[in-house]
Amino acid sequence: MNLDALLADYTRTVDRMLNQWLPKESAKPATIHRAMRYSLFAGGKRMRPALCLAAAQACGIRRLADALPAACAVECVHTYSLIHDDLPCMDNDDLRRGRPTSHKVFGDGVAVLAGDALLTVAFEILAKTKPTERYDLADSISELARAAGSRFLIGGQVADLEAEGKKSDAAGLRFIHRGKTAAMIICSLKLGAMSANATPRTLRILEEFGDHLGLAFQVIDDILDVTQSSEKLGKSAGKDAAAGKTTYPAVLGLEASKKEAARLTEKALACLSPISERSAILRALAQKLLARQS
Ligand code: IPE
Ligand code: IPE
Ligand code: MG
Ligand code: MG
Ligand code: MG
Repeated sequence: MNLDALLADYTRTVDRMLNQWLPKESAKPATIHRAMRYSLFAGGKRMRPALCLAAAQACGIRRLADALPAACAVECVHTYSLIHDDLPCMDNDDLRRGRPTSHKVFGDGVAVLAGDALLTVAFEILAKTKPTERYDLADSISELARAAGSRFLIGGQVADLEAEGKKSDAAGLRFIHRGKTAAMIICSLKLGAMSANATPRTLRILEEFGDHLGLAFQVIDDILDVTQSSEKLGKSAGKDAAAGKTTYPAVLGLEASKKEAARLTEKALACLSPISERSAILRALAQKLLARQS
């Protein structure tokens, strides 16, 4: 399998559909549509759509197109979360996906609204999902709403803010990482699987896989903040320590964090053993994410 070619293919398809399903830049008022597209098409890794599509393939989806509304919806929610995460009242970042952040270009008001609009359009896009034998549209919608809501993504972001400058233990750290990062990764996998009419047992397997993978993803994000340059990351490096963020490197140290990321990835991979013959793409993706440098 050529994973990089497959990922490039996923990205091309997802970008084509996002372009089709988002309001045109010229739609009135143009500013908000320009701002939505500015952040969405800035060149993110598109990992959540890839996990969604790979999960759909692992579950034997017949037409990959049936998973595209879910794949595009999770990317819209993710991009919204980045725009808001960068605001002066949150992480106060100037650089994202290699460009000045939304509020630097459009001002705080439009950046807030661009985030809101991406979160809202995510549900408009997800609503294009076709029901399967086991899952109707309400199942997909409640899955995404739950993951993006105050118990998970938003809850994790709140805990992240509240932990600034405080000492946290491993359990506190896990709570933050599960909420702000793992929940949307789990949701991406489950929505892809649901588009493929996966069994409840397979959903549980992917949920456990996604939990370990999502925690590993954020541990690695925290490590890269310490070890990489802003240029390489396309976002400002070294900000976590400066802001007194609760991160794995801050709590455990860098070397132990690297070991933890590898351990979590191993645990993630082990979860896939009951579906090993179908999950080659997911396994390759997990390994690629562990080795990522940006
Ligand atoms: C960054 O996510 C925010 C985290 C949850 C760690 P990504 O590293 O997936 O960012 P993009 O989408 O590639 O910009
Ligand atoms: C952000 O975590 C997670 C979400 C946007 C939900 P970080 O604050 O660590 O992400 P970066 O490092 O700014 O991308
Ligand atoms: Mg943050
Ligand atoms: Mg941030
Ligand atoms: Mg970070």
